[in-house]
Amino acid sequence: RSDRTFTMIKPDAVAAGHIGAILAKINEAGFRIAAMKYTQITKEQAKKFYEVHKERPFYDELTDFMSSGPIVAAILEKEDAVAAFRKLIGATNPAEADEGTIRKEFAESMSKNAVHGSDSDENACIEGAFYFSATEVI
Ligand code: CMP
Repeated sequence: RSDRTFTMIKPDAVAAGHIGAILAKINEAGFRIAAMKYTQITKEQAKKFYEVHKERPFYDELTDFMSSGPIVAAILEKEDAVAAFRKLIGATNPAEADEGTIRKEFAESMSKNAVHGSDSDENACIEGAFYFSATEVI
């Protein structure tokens, strides 16, 4: 059974120099890093990654943004990882994010919202496999 989730530190947070601070919060919250990669995806890869959102009005903006600069992709482990991580990052819209959450501290807007977190065990698995082969997960 999966106690893993998948995250990306998005281009806005990387460009603003927040990688270290965000990883520190992830560590302090008790997540173990099972895999991690600093990379930049193409527009085509972003479209594939976010295919579930392809009918949404923000799909083009989202995929432009996610391919606009480097990101940090990681697989994280903790008991009840998906829910625990969503709690740590806060609401998608930073204006609605709780005090102490990563998005409250680092997100600029709904699209430039600093981090991604999987919304289910199934998606955590699919999203992790998008970035990492089995031998890269420790
Ligand atoms: P993420 O968790 O990466 O998954 C889908 C992303 O779409 C989400 O974070 C937001 O950054 C983005 N998103 C969701 N709603 C909107 C919106 N209304 N406008 C722009 N981007 C959005």
